[in-house]
Amino acid sequence: MSGERKKVTINHLLKMKGRKEKICMVTAYDYPTAYLADLSGIDMILVGDSVGMVVLGYKSTLPVTMEEMLHHTKAVTRAVKYSFVIGDMPFLSYNTGVDEAIHNAGLFMKAGCDAVKIEGGKEMADTVKAVVDAGIPVMAHLGLTPQRAAQLGGYKLQGSTAESAMKVIEDAKALEKAGAFSLLFEFVPMEVAGLITDKLSIPTIGIGAGPRCDGQVLVFHDIVGLTLWTETPKFAKKYVDLRERILDALKKYLGDVKTGSFPLEEHSYHMKEGEYNKLLSNLERGEE
Ligand code: KIV
Repeated sequence: MSGERKKVTINHLLKMKGRKEKICMVTAYDYPTAYLADLSGIDMILVGDSVGMVVLGYKSTLPVTMEEMLHHTKAVTRAVKYSFVIGDMPFLSYNTGVDEAIHNAGLFMKAGCDAVKIEGGKEMADTVKAVVDAGIPVMAHLGLTPQRAAQLGGYKLQGSTAESAMKVIEDAKALEKAGAFSLLFEFVPMEVAGLITDKLSIPTIGIGAGPRCDGQVLVFHDIVGLTLWTETPKFAKKYVDLRERILDALKKYLGDVKTGSFPLEEHSYHMKEGEYNKLLSNLERGEE
C-alpha cells in the first residue's frame, strides 16, 4: 500500500486486475473483526452467509435468514471505512423471483454494502442482470455453491473433469455477460480457475481455487483458528491458533477468580475520601 488510503471501489478492483495486483478478501460478521480487517488494509470484506455455521452454530448455511444477515451486515458496515463490503444473499432471498431478489439486494445496500453476492451458475444470469440493472453491483459465486450442496452431492470439488469444467467456464461467461463485476470460485481445480481468470475482464476471487485467481478469500474464523465445530478443508490456512490462546486465557481467569487472585486493588475503585467512615457511622446510627 502506498500513499493516502482511499475507499476501495469497483474501478479500483478492475485496475488491480489490470495491473496483476492481487486482491485480498476476508469474511467478517461483527464490528470488532470488521474493524480489524479494515485496519489491516484488506481490500474486500464479505459478510458471508457462513456466519450461520461459524458464528450461529447452524449445520449449514441454509437456515440463515435476511434478518440475520442484515443484523450482522450493519455491525460490519458501521466499522468499515475503506474496504469494499459485500453482503451475501442467503438461501431463498434471491431464488424465488427477480422482484424479491432486487428488493433483498436493495436491503443490503441500505445496510451500507457496496455490492451483493449471489450463488449459482448461468441459471442465475437473469436474476444477476435484473439486480445489476437496478443499480446494485453483483459478485457471482460459482463452483461449489454451499446453498446447493445437496444438489451437488455434498461439499465436493467442482469441475475436475473436462466436461464439468466446461460447465464452470460457460457459467462464468454467462455471469460476466449478465453484468457481474466479479466472480468468486469456490473449490474448483486451479487449472480451471486459472483458465477462466485469463479469459475474463472482471476480477476472479478464489477460495480453494488456486493461485491463478485475481484474488483470494478466506473465512475469518479459519484464519484465526476459531472454526471449532466445522471441518476445515486444506485450503483454509490457519495463521494463528486463537482457540488455544483463548482457552488458556479463560482457564487462567477461572483460576484467578476461584483463588481470589482477581480482582485485586489495581482492578478496583474507592469511595471519595472520608465517605466510607461517614457511611459506617450512618449505618451504626441507623441500627441504634
Ligand atoms: O459465506 C462465505 O463465507 C462464502 C465463502 C465462499 C467465502 O461465501
